[in-house]
Order: sequence, then C-alpha cells, then structure tokens
Amino acid sequence: MQKEKDIILTGDRPTGSLHIGHLAGSLSSRVHLQETEQYQMYVMIADLQALTDNAENPEKVRKSLFELTLDYLAVGLDPEKTHMIVQSAIPALSELTMYFLNLVTLARLERNPTVKHEIREKGFGHSIPAGFMAYPVSQAADITAFRAKYVPCGDDQLPMLEQTRELVSAFNRIYGGNVLVEPKEILPKRSACFRLIGTDGSGKMSKSLGNCIYIKDDEKTLKEKIMSMFTDPTHINVSDPGHTENNPVFIYLEAFSSDAHFAEYLAEYHNLSEMKEHYQKGGLGDMKCKKFLFNVLNETLLPLRKRREWYERDKAELLNILKKGTEKAVEATERTLTEVREAIGINYFNTNL
Ligand code: TRP
Repeated sequence: MQKEKDIILTGDRPTGSLHIGHLAGSLSSRVHLQETEQYQMYVMIADLQALTDNAENPEKVRKSLFELTLDYLAVGLDPEKTHMIVQSAIPALSELTMYFLNLVTLARLERNPTVKHEIREKGFGHSIPAGFMAYPVSQAADITAFRAKYVPCGDDQLPMLEQTRELVSAFNRIYGGNVLVEPKEILPKRSACFRLIGTDGSGKMSKSLGNCIYIKDDEKTLKEKIMSMFTDPTHINVSDPGHTENNPVFIYLEAFSSDAHFAEYLAEYHNLSEMKEHYQKGGLGDMKCKKFLFNVLNETLLPLRKRREWYERDKAELLNILKKGTEKAVEATERTLTEVREAIGINYFNTNL
C-alpha cells in the first residue's frame, strides 16, 4: 500500500487582498511545498475566523473570499495539487472547536501575545467578542481536524501553534488514545520575511495601516507606491551615508532580489551586499535604489498578474475549485471527528448498548 502523505494546512482570513508580505512569507513557501509533491496540502479560507471581528461586515468577508482565491491561483497554487477550502462549509471544524473550548481557560486565552496585540490594534476596549478571544481554539480545531503535521506560517502564528499543541496534549491525556496529532510550524527561510515592514517604514505591512503593496497591484500602482516609499530620513543628499536597517527598500530587496536581478537591472553590483555597502558609505541615491526595487518587484509580480487575469474571467470556475476542495476537506475532517466522538464517548448512535 502506498504510504499516506503528511498533511499540511495553512489558511488566511478573507478580509482583503494579500500583499507582498504574504508572498514573501507564507505564499512562496506554500507553492514550494506544493511542488515537492510530498505532502497533501490544504489551503483554507478562514471565513469563520474573519467573522470573529467582522460580524457586522459579512459582505466584506464574502467579497474577500473571491479575492483570496484569485490571489492563491495567481501565486501558483494549483487546484489539481492543493485543496482550496472554505472553513464555514466544513461542519467538523465548528464541532471540534466546541470540544476544545472546554480544555482551555479564559486566562490562557488572554495570555496569547498575538491576540493581545490585535485587541490593542483593533481598539476593542472592553467589548471583545467572545468568538474573537477564542479564535486560537478554532484555529487549533482547523489544524487538528485535518491531522496536519505541518503549518507554514509567519512568526505571529507561533502562539496559535503552541495553543494547538497544548490542546492536543490535553485531549489525548483526558480522552485517551492518540487521536490528534501535534503540528509543527514551517517558518520562512529569509529573516526579512518575518513581518515585512510597510512602505511607510512604521510597522508591519497591514491593510489597516494603508502601507501595503498588493500582489494584484498593477504596474502603475506599484511604481507610485515604490516612488513614494519611506527610506532613510537621514539620507538627504546622495553623498550622505545611508542606513539599510529599517529601510523598507532594502528590506524588500532582501526578501525578493536575486543575483540574477542585479545582472539584469543593476549590473554595477554583483549582489545585495555590495549595493548595501555602497548605500551605507554614501554615494548611492534613493531614486536609483527604488528604480531597481521596482524592476525586481514588477518582474516578480508580472506572471502572477497574468494568471490572475486568466482566472478572473470565470467566476463559476472559481466556485467550482472551492467546492471540490471543500468536499475533500469535509471527508477528511469527518473521519477525524468520528474518532474524536468515540474517544469522548459521545458516539451514542454508533455503539452497541
Ligand atoms: N490565523 C490565520 C491568519 O491570521 C488564519 C488561519 C485560520 C490559519 N486557520 C488557520 C492559519 C489554520 C493556519 C492554519 O491569517
């Protein structure tokens, strides 16, 4: 018998389009993992999770579901190899969340650093939706219902993975057996890919801060965004020494440029370290750096725009891709939940009395 492939699950909240921070981080790694053909990969559109802080904005979630699917297809996720799935259409995930909620305390949920940060950022004050507080539990259910062994993600998701492992171990301890599997994270290789900073240099690239370069941005938009990007405020004259750390131009180059890009667009340097050295010493202007960055990013995004256009023409096909993927997901998660109910002993109608 053929050995079953290890399972990989990743997901995104449908709250808007994906940006180059996602591309440098999780998306490239997903495409790479897909191409190894060593895993069964599921990519989940986490609409239930999106609703935890968008309960009054369901149309935003609905619209973003299509945007996200287009982004996935644009970056090269292939429905023949990767199941693209919709969280809300997989009942087992909500059921497992209910069982998990009893295995975690409110105090533990309140300690999750990513959630804490989001609560501050979103300005919930004292009106935090209970569903939002509990979304790491729902995410743990996502991961374990698929028996995912690996979760490619950014470092902001590490607390979710930690929470998942705790829930798995509590579940297996209390209900016995080894029904659920502890997942491991796969982090991006290049350190610049951790929380790519925004074009304004202020913080993380984020829709709410308006400092994103989107995967779907066209050439003109890309150019405008790059040309008005923050660089090094102390680098006033070309001859001034410049700082490359905290400078989004160099951080993006770190994430996306290759030696081949230098050969093609900026042959006076062999690689990024040479270019950086010159910038730090003084004598290299921001405009030249930005033009190079534009060439690098435009070349990276061009094939993605083409694929997106191709899929954009057929919305019915998009739905079909999601439907097919989700059907597979329903089957796989139902198998896990059968064992989960059995372990808890609430499989009343499937047992001999
Ligand atoms: N929390 C993830 C995000 O903010 C989305 C997500 C939901 C997810 N369920 C998941 C990621 C399961 C990995 C695995 O984007």
